[in-house]
Amino acid sequence: MSKERIISNKEKSEDKALDLTLRPAILNDFVGQQKIKENIKIFMTAAKQRGEAMEHVLFHGPPGLGKTTLAHILAKEIRVNIRVTSGPAIERAGDLAAILTNLEDGDILFIDEIHRLNRLIEEVLYPAMEDYALDIVIGKGPAARTLRLDLPKFTLVGATTRYHLLSSPLRDRFGSTFRLDYYSQEDIQKIIDRSARILSIDLQDDSSKMIAQRARLTPRIANRLLKRVRDYVQVKGDGILNPQITQKALELMEVDIMGLDSLDRKILSSIIEKFKGGPVGLNSIAALVQEEEGTIEEIYEPYLIQLGFLARTPRGRVVTENAYKHLGLEVPGELQSKLI
Ligand SMILES: Nc1ncnc2c1ncn2[C@@H]1O[C@H](COP(=O)(O)OP(=O)(O)O)[C@@H](O)[C@H]1O
Ligand SMILES: [Mg+2]
Repeated sequence: MSKERIISNKEKSEDKALDLTLRPAILNDFVGQQKIKENIKIFMTAAKQRGEAMEHVLFHGPPGLGKTTLAHILAKEIRVNIRVTSGPAIERAGDLAAILTNLEDGDILFIDEIHRLNRLIEEVLYPAMEDYALDIVIGKGPAARTLRLDLPKFTLVGATTRYHLLSSPLRDRFGSTFRLDYYSQEDIQKIIDRSARILSIDLQDDSSKMIAQRARLTPRIANRLLKRVRDYVQVKGDGILNPQITQKALELMEVDIMGLDSLDRKILSSIIEKFKGGPVGLNSIAALVQEEEGTIEEIYEPYLIQLGFLARTPRGRVVTENAYKHLGLEVPGELQSKLI
């Protein structure tokens, strides 16, 4: 069911074509995330000056915030090839060895969903990252010996939505680790305006604000909403995205003013109804709304926490005052004591 959701920040097939046109190709077009951009500029320049491969980089954070985009920007900016793969796509150690030996000096190897690499394959990665070496075991039993092959000096760029699932030896081997945070409302609006320009959409300022408000502070969702509103206006309007018609289009999508959809609201209201607002564990929440724990943790919870609708306490998740107000419910008296 979650696959149908408009606000899902998972990549959908309809995004692919859109992504190709809207994905910023250079760092200057990448909106927001100022600190990350500054850091990237510094280590790119340093690597260029030394004529060496860039250090290995890990991007983590909720889906749709720009991890893949940054990996491609890095390759473009330092003018190297990028080889794209993902944790689940690398099934055997031999798959990884084949990829590694085919790289050239300076190339970027991008491993998306790197938390899903299995441990045996991870172990191939350690010497590759550390010493640019591939250890191959030849023979079996007492006669077995290890052969060390030199690898090109590549840069590994990893991306993950679930940083805590990464093993610590793997984490430690990245030179830099960046957490992408949700964007500000203003940055999201900039992204929408940029996309509208690229797609030649006649977007009025107030409409752009309305879309930005509902985009969950997430660029991928902002672009998707913009496209849906454009489609609606093309069919029902005169092509101009004015506030009146934008409002109608957005209402049809059942995303509320804070970007919450029915499942977000269900999470909050079930905790209120069944657990008096919490504290409650993630597994109980997942059971309540019949979704996978990982999905709740990766997609729903971070945004609800970002909004200040859900708080994480040592005893579990607690629904906050703002959430009660947003749902139009009376705020219970004992709430403050739960939040400590
Ligand atoms: N900082 C940004 N500025 C402009 N557009 C962005 C930015 N970050 C992401 N996007 C847009 O959102 C889409 C999804 O980003 P992506 O890099 O695929 O996210 P992730 O890999 O983190 O899930 C991109 O194709 C791009 O169009
Ligand atoms: Mg991605």
